[in-house]
Amino acid sequence: MQVFTDPGDLSAWSDVQRVHGQRVGLVPTMGALHDGHLALIDETRRHADVVVVTIFVNPLQFNRPDDFATYPRPIDDDLARCEAQGVDAVYAPLANTMYPEGFQTHVVPGPLADVLEGAERPGHFRGVTTVVAKLFNAARPHVAVFGQKDFQQLAVIRRMTTDLDMPIEIVGLPTVREPDGLALSSRNRRLTPEQRVAAVCVPRSLQAVRDAYLAGERHNDALVRIGRATVDAEPLARFEHLELVHPDTLRPADPVERGTVAVTAVWFDEVRLIDNLVI
Ligand code: PAF
Repeated sequence: MQVFTDPGDLSAWSDVQRVHGQRVGLVPTMGALHDGHLALIDETRRHADVVVVTIFVNPLQFNRPDDFATYPRPIDDDLARCEAQGVDAVYAPLANTMYPEGFQTHVVPGPLADVLEGAERPGHFRGVTTVVAKLFNAARPHVAVFGQKDFQQLAVIRRMTTDLDMPIEIVGLPTVREPDGLALSSRNRRLTPEQRVAAVCVPRSLQAVRDAYLAGERHNDALVRIGRATVDAEPLARFEHLELVHPDTLRPADPVERGTVAVTAVWFDEVRLIDNLVI
């Protein structure tokens, strides 16, 4: 497995793969790899001949310095997992390689990035699109695979690649879950054992929305109330938002119909978990 820290070295490697007729697949990550990431790597292998994983905790997409500072960075463990998963190349640049002194150009997404996560975390998606565009330029992939847990991120990245004529196929992989339903996330490892047990209220609230929909409820407000009640009943959880949105526009769906996405964010002390479920 090759490990690169310089974008030029990665591009040169990728060009050689392309010259040899290899399809290059990319899995952008912020490290702290878990089984959800391994599923992304396996999926990428189905779409490409060689797989590149990027590991970079992107300061531009954090709006809380404490969240950035405490984000887990187990790089040795991550590299070992990539190696064991048969990854061909890892790109793990330093922050001042990604954003050297004088850096000042950003990719600014449109209105899709202003709602939901974007409304709660101003500037977040500008940070995501900027770093993903840079990762695409460095890795020059034919295909890139992202998790559907970050539903809005996937929508914003698809929009960016279309709008900027990036010749890259974007693949979304369904969320990988623990046996009790909690979506896998690098943030889960920051939960205390009690919070981890309590966190099951997040997928349960989405399931409650889906069940109520299947039982005939179609009103957006009523379904939100039902989902929220599951979170509010959990003393360790702090509800942030639950919205039922159209999958393409991310605008509220009312009445709720098949294909509507329930999107939520819930806090456990300082840890913020997100999840979503297609109704
Ligand atoms: O989903 C993530 O881990 C990050 O937002 C990404 C896409 C790697 C960009 O930093």
